[in-house]
Amino acid sequence: MDLLLVFIFGLITTDALTVEVDQVRQIQENFEILAAKLHQLETKFQEQESTLKIFEKQIHGDLSKNSEHPPPTGQNTLPRTCQAARLANPSLSSGLYWIDPDGTASGDGPIRVYCNMNTGSTEVLHDSESSMDPGHCASPGCYFRSINYKASSRQMAALVELSVECSQSIKYDCVSSPLERNGISYAWWNDRNGNPQYFWSGSNSRVHVCQCGIEQTCFENDVRCNCDSNAKLQLVDYGVITKKKLLPITRLNFGGTHRVNSTGMHTLGRLKCDGKLSALNKGFPTSCADLWRNGFVTNGLYSIKGNKQVEKVYCDFNKLPSEPDFQTWIGYEDVKSHPVYFYVQKNTDLLTHNTPIPFDIELLNVGNAMNVSSGIFTAPRSGRYFFTFTGTKDEAAKGTEISLRLNGGHITQTYSSYGGSYYTYSLQTTLNLQRGDKVSLVLINGALHDNSITRHSTLFFGWSLEEDIFKN
Ligand SMILES: *[C@@H]1O[C@H](CO)[C@@H](O)[C@H](O)[C@H]1NC(C)=O
Ligand SMILES: *[C@@H]1O[C@H](CO)[C@@H](O)[C@H](O)[C@H]1NC(C)=O
Repeated sequence: MDLLLVFIFGLITTDALTVEVDQVRQIQENFEILAAKLHQLETKFQEQESTLKIFEKQIHGDLSKNSEHPPPTGQNTLPRTCQAARLANPSLSSGLYWIDPDGTASGDGPIRVYCNMNTGSTEVLHDSESSMDPGHCASPGCYFRSINYKASSRQMAALVELSVECSQSIKYDCVSSPLERNGISYAWWNDRNGNPQYFWSGSNSRVHVCQCGIEQTCFENDVRCNCDSNAKLQLVDYGVITKKKLLPITRLNFGGTHRVNSTGMHTLGRLKCDGKLSALNKGFPTSCADLWRNGFVTNGLYSIKGNKQVEKVYCDFNKLPSEPDFQTWIGYEDVKSHPVYFYVQKNTDLLTHNTPIPFDIELLNVGNAMNVSSGIFTAPRSGRYFFTFTGTKDEAAKGTEISLRLNGGHITQTYSSYGGSYYTYSLQTTLNLQRGDKVSLVLINGALHDNSITRHSTLFFGWSLEEDIFKN
């Protein structure tokens, strides 16, 4: 403003006569336009700045989810594994994350784990990851260390249950510090149930063995671990325990490290679990455990795939799949892809032998499996079917014999003797039919009389009792 005034003043003083009032007015106007534009820019800048602040708050909010403190309960559903977090957001980078393997709605509070987002593996941290020295002591298990995980045992059990594979590495650097010598076990580890285990790699829990013993590459031929050999050398046994039902390792025990030059150093890896959930979730659920892996959390009655039928179970999702009464079997569900039942009658005589008996009146034919004109029932689905047939023979008829046929083969028959009047004949049968199987009645002897005298007393019924919903 000042500059402008000086400028204007200058114009007036240097050549006051030539300066016209219009020109001054023009300059004044230009100045006002510029000032207005500046104001506009300032407002725009302020708007941008406040938008930026909102973004910053949002970003900060997202990061705080990943803070040292667990997220407040009941706010948002945490992923149950790192694999699930990675599936939900493939752009996440590896680091510490809060997850809730036993489900947000029930069980223990969330746990903070390391997520390897390259592989989707979940790693549970503990207090014994660095190399540790058992010191010198002689008797078996005279040194021990309990492992404290940054997760409750229930949460770890849930994680293991959700995962296809879990493993934990263990390394023992040794000089004259045997794990086992002369039949004496100096060292062992305790599994998740507290039971001692003497294998140091793989999943064969029955024998004392290390990775070199599995590969038959141990330092000495007659030992199953490098550290078990007599050599006074720096040796190492490194292995990965893959029997997930025993993990995590809860305690390490060592001994036999009393010799002057003995050293032993143990290094325990994290509990690592790889949960390719999609591999577990394929197809129909067959148990509460399948439903649980699929993310169901509300207790209740659920339908599952049984052998051939649909089954009903009660799922208690407050428990883990490994706990008793997690799943209670209720029973079979009567599911039919389509109802099938018929009721047909005759109202004519029949004398033709050895061909399927046709019927005349169709009272019910739900599912259209019965062809009334051919008299042939064709099973629309595999399953169990019930058939019943009844009729009355009139006075004039000779002995009458009727056979029930499955795909043309005789199954059962009914007979009414010669001479009597108004004798009834009847047959019933339950059949296990494959889809497309044909059932019919065939007159073998005598004659069927169903005219005005007997008034629709020749009746054939059938219905589907149970259908094979699943192929196996
Ligand atoms: C212990 O190590 C020292 C130094 O390597 C060696 O001189 C000594 O003989 C060793 N003692 C035994 C009992 O092996
Ligand atoms: C019933 O059977 C008759 C005689 O075999 C046949 O002509 C007819 O097409 C069948 N009807 C149906 C619906 O399959």
